[in-house]
Amino acid sequence: MPLSIIILAAGQGTRMKSSRPKVLHHLAGKPMLQHVVETGQALNPEQIIVVIGYQSEQIREQMMGQNLDFVEQVEQLGTGHAVVQCLDVLVEGNDILVLNGDGPLISSVALNSLLKKAGNNAVNILSFYPPTPQGYGRIVRQADDKVIAIIEEKDADQQQKEIRECYSGFMFIAGNQVRHLVGQLDNNNAQSEYYLTDVVKHAVDSELNITATICEDADEVQGVNNQTQLAQVENLFRQKQAIKLMEAGVKLYDPDRIDIRGILKVGSDVEIDINCIFIGDVVLGDNVHIATNCIIENSSIGKGSQILPMTSIDSATIGEGVSIGPFARIRPGTECADGVKIGNFVETKKAQIGLGSKVNHLSYVGDTEMGANVNIGAGTITCNYDGANKFKTIIEDDVFVGSDTQLVAPVKISRGSTIGAGSTITKDTPEDQLTLSRSKQISMPGWPRPVKK
Ligand code: UD1
Ligand code: CA
Repeated sequence: MPLSIIILAAGQGTRMKSSRPKVLHHLAGKPMLQHVVETGQALNPEQIIVVIGYQSEQIREQMMGQNLDFVEQVEQLGTGHAVVQCLDVLVEGNDILVLNGDGPLISSVALNSLLKKAGNNAVNILSFYPPTPQGYGRIVRQADDKVIAIIEEKDADQQQKEIRECYSGFMFIAGNQVRHLVGQLDNNNAQSEYYLTDVVKHAVDSELNITATICEDADEVQGVNNQTQLAQVENLFRQKQAIKLMEAGVKLYDPDRIDIRGILKVGSDVEIDINCIFIGDVVLGDNVHIATNCIIENSSIGKGSQILPMTSIDSATIGEGVSIGPFARIRPGTECADGVKIGNFVETKKAQIGLGSKVNHLSYVGDTEMGANVNIGAGTITCNYDGANKFKTIIEDDVFVGSDTQLVAPVKISRGSTIGAGSTITKDTPEDQLTLSRSKQISMPGWPRPVKK
């Protein structure tokens, strides 16, 4: 039977103590809901319905363009009520898989096994054994192990609270039973909510078959209801990523001190020192070494390149055998060719830096096209901005720029030019000549040094 996925995401998440809807809180750099949607998409469902309510506009906006059917649940009267709101848009007869917008670590492997084990049963729930069951619905089984109910914590008696097996928030319901089962939900319980979990009880009453699939990895179904749990989930996510990297052969100096907020692809013999953060899509080629305290976002770094401590690289393309840092800031649009060297306290932005060129100390290079084999002296600034508009600096091959020079754009430093230290260059320079613009050094014999009156 074709599948419709329903993602519950209407609640405010009051326990987060935040004005932002809970499912938009970020895990590894993107909304929790985005993680759940992507996992759902991996199952190739015919339809993904997202139930929204609290600050629904904000959620629609953030989740645009992913072919999702949004359903508004104006009043959040419970998880069962949320599913009832979907019945109008639900493709008739489709099986449904209910996912929790606040359970972002669930894997498509676990969900696939839930679908597979559902067989011909009316309901299959994903259960798990959390380290502490507090707050979760408890799975009640009868003597022959058959599941007969899920009891919410607030409705559980002392004996039921002792049960360790809990409901994960993930449930399969067969297409031919969906309307029959959710149609019977009521709110006669401790929280006066329509609990989706009560479909189990109704399935029992209708003598339908129910199964529970136990999720081996309790971490995957950890729910996020407060900031502590969000931090725990972030931690788990990080640990998993770190293990994957090490399995791929990366040397991590300390797997507890790396953050990956996105997708990090690596070649062989990559080394990453402590406290580095990788954001978005990052690719590290073979033999890349990243030193401590670097932040690398949406960038690729070619084979054999070294990123030295305290370096920030954002939306840049770095070639092979490049050395950057320490303390460098590589901003969007930087493209470094092979063999480039960028040293301490250098900032680059929208800058192409040609083969083997060096910008070693204390410089700003922005809106610049730089050729090969260029040497930029310490403290050189491309003055790209007149307060209103930005202009380009072109530096051709084999240029040598002396220290403390300002290149006032638009300007071209032609092939083979040498610029004398301390110059302010406002006009294009001729090829292969020394150009300098500074007053001659003079000394004044007998000049009286001022004295205090
Ligand atoms: C729910 C389960 C509980 C399970 C736990 C797993 C019910 C009644 N309880 O409890 O058995 O152990 O998840 O994490 O299902 N939501 C809506 N509309 C609503 C209410 C909730 O869309 O009217 C959404 C929330 O935004 C959230 C999800 O449903 O994403 C779960 O709601 P939440 O209030 O967190 O349920 P729990 O109390 O955690
Ligand atoms: Ca929850």
